Amino acid sequence: MDKTILEYLRASDSYISGEELSHRLGITRSAVWKNIHNLINDGYEIIAVPHLGYKLVKLTNKLLPQEISWGLNTKFIAREIFYFDSLPSTMDKAMELGLKDAPEGSLVVAETQTKGRGRLGRHWVSPKYKGVYFSLLLRPKIIPQQASVLTILIAVSAIEAIQKITGLSPSIKWPNDIMLNNKKLGGILLEMNAETDLVKFVVIGVGVNVNSPKTSLAPNSTCLDEESALKVERVSLLQEILKQIESNYSAFSHEGAKNILERWRRASSTLHSRIKVSYQEESIEGEAVDIDVDGGLLVRNDSGFIEKVMAGDVVSLKRM
Ligand code: BTN
Repeated sequence: MDKTILEYLRASDSYISGEELSHRLGITRSAVWKNIHNLINDGYEIIAVPHLGYKLVKLTNKLLPQEISWGLNTKFIAREIFYFDSLPSTMDKAMELGLKDAPEGSLVVAETQTKGRGRLGRHWVSPKYKGVYFSLLLRPKIIPQQASVLTILIAVSAIEAIQKITGLSPSIKWPNDIMLNNKKLGGILLEMNAETDLVKFVVIGVGVNVNSPKTSLAPNSTCLDEESALKVERVSLLQEILKQIESNYSAFSHEGAKNILERWRRASSTLHSRIKVSYQEESIEGEAVDIDVDGGLLVRNDSGFIEKVMAGDVVSLKRM
């Protein structure tokens, strides 16, 4: 019901009377008022003038499902949206949906997370209304060893979307960091439910800092507001990321990873650098020479051997 009133308000640049809305929607005047009141509570700014009616003057800043869907036009990504004011982590909710046979492309979005997580069990700080935090449920026809390529695909989608919306040019630090001016702007987290040779479903989480207070940012992290003069609308950014994911994921499903890997190579801040990759107690040093079809990083060590790394933390030592 909110949505229908909202659609009438959105479509009109002048006042619409309560009587007209009640007539068009087939509801009482007091039901119209109740719905308007709900919209105001959701953060929409609506002016009510006696004898004239209602006028929408400002959209909500919240990532409400009707705002995400408005003009989105995707075929399967975010056709189902699960919105939460607060969640421990969107990852857990999306994992639950995966087990319950929710459709591919289901989106879980939260305004804040109390236990947002990153790779290797790290905490992902998610201040309320200050970033874009979501998880997507995908059901790709791949084997578990290929799943990392989806991290690559989502990272490329996210940076292309950020570029389109802000004009900025973020880069990707292998495996999952979105970087801007050498600081971390966002990250991707992939979790899956799989058997040895079968992926049942994958949940991909994306976090991008948009207008985070400086005090909430982890050391060496940044947000879009810090790096750009533009004020970024979270909903436009989220919509663009979702569109890019749908387009890249469809291309990947039909044509494989070649094209996406090529775009990753162009956006990578890791390739052609001398790096040190550490994982648990182990580390290797060398030149990052390429990325493999399954998303592994190929590192030429000082003896000239090329080693493939599937996980770890990368530190850039110097550009080759
Ligand atoms: C990383 O940098 O290691 C990955 C960060 C991923 C954060 C996102 S925010 C939405 C989703 N929910 C989580 O708990 N984590 C991911």
